[in-house]
Amino acid sequence: MTDSQETSLYGGHMPKTSNPASQTAEKPIPSKVTAPGILARKGTGQKILALTAYDSPTARLVDEAGFDLILVGDSMANVVLGHATTLKISLDQIISATRAVKRAVDRPLVVADMPFGTYHISQEETLRNAFRLVREGGAQAVKIEGGQKRAHLVEALVNADIPVLGHIGLLPQSYNLRGGYRIQGRNLDGAEGLLQDAFALQEAGAFAVVLEGVPTEVASAITQKIQIPTIGIGAGDGCDGQILVFHDVVGLSVGPQPKFVRRYANLADEIRKALGHLADDIREGEFPSEEESYSFQGELPTEWTKD
Ligand code: KIV
Repeated sequence: MTDSQETSLYGGHMPKTSNPASQTAEKPIPSKVTAPGILARKGTGQKILALTAYDSPTARLVDEAGFDLILVGDSMANVVLGHATTLKISLDQIISATRAVKRAVDRPLVVADMPFGTYHISQEETLRNAFRLVREGGAQAVKIEGGQKRAHLVEALVNADIPVLGHIGLLPQSYNLRGGYRIQGRNLDGAEGLLQDAFALQEAGAFAVVLEGVPTEVASAITQKIQIPTIGIGAGDGCDGQILVFHDVVGLSVGPQPKFVRRYANLADEIRKALGHLADDIREGEFPSEEESYSFQGELPTEWTKD
């Protein structure tokens, strides 16, 4: 809460004004989203709105649009840094991006992805790396990939007071092990495995779980059976919330997109057009104009102006 706000009786933050009577007319600023707040959405029917962001300007826009959760995802490796997989991003890069996001937003819960290799060696190292995301990055929760085999880590993180968002189904960090990006749970064995993964994360104390690349029927059934919210990406419309990658949604990603991506803008085209105009204007001497330039006070001596 900033200095200029105080908590209202109904949970929101009211801007401070000098005239108490006018406060009743003010619209409450919605409360900050917390990990327990996301958990409490279960069963309310109020969808959880989640999106990735990796920098201040885009995070601000995501906040303004009313999203509940911002994931500083390791997808930054693909959509920002130009890598083919998520495997190359470092903890320092996610910390730096998380800081930028946190500087810009007030309301959404900011979750930082734990990069490949940061929770694979030992529980102690997992905790050390997660503490860095919280203390240096300002993350309010972390996300790790994997179900039953990571449940002990989820439990250790929660015991260390770090909320955890689980992630099961298609796991981008398992790209090499699984031989590519594979939809999971297409047969009964696979679906059973996913359900057990979801239960394991719930038991371990995760406040929600991302279901990625899972058939709609399976994701919906898991959502019905578990008591923590599911946040789907390529998992159909039966989840408690949805998450997508910012650059995919606004048309800034390069290359073919998975079929679950819905593009709401084509910013790459807009930027291309804008930069084309700027280049033309510079070439033709149309930019900068006098209004876009500064003038010298007085007159320059003649030796400055003669050829
Ligand atoms: O890194 C990411 O963007 C993710 C989402 C796709 C869930 O993990």
